[in-house]
Amino acid sequence: MNRENLIKRAISARENSYSPYSHFRVGAALLCADGEIYEGCNIENRAYGPTNCAERTAFFKAVSEGKREFSAIAIVGGEDELTWCYPCGVCRQVMAEFCAPDTFEVICARSPEEYKIFTLRDLLPNMF
Ligand code: THU
Repeated sequence: MNRENLIKRAISARENSYSPYSHFRVGAALLCADGEIYEGCNIENRAYGPTNCAERTAFFKAVSEGKREFSAIAIVGGEDELTWCYPCGVCRQVMAEFCAPDTFEVICARSPEEYKIFTLRDLLPNMF
């Protein structure tokens, strides 16, 4: 797996972030088991509640196209500069629906060279 490339795709996806309320721009790139990559960004809403995170955007795009097996997701976020951005609880639960807890990699990045890797089980122990 080329993690640097996946992070670059997440950085590119972040360009489309629609975040006029929080100004926190997030991008994600989801690597499918077949090698295809789906990008996602956060999409906010004036009613706040309907906001969709970048990670779920990527998952829902992929699942709606028929994908069911996933290897990794890269996540980047921040207002202007990139800061460490970790997936929210709802996104972790969506990952749990589709991903193998001990092998699926969650790659949280501040640049293509600076990143932390977690398994899904690290982030969501004792999952439902
Ligand atoms: N957000 C994401 O898209 N992914 C995360 O991992 C953390 C939070 C979004 C939701 C909201 O649009 C903004 O960041 C601030 O919470």
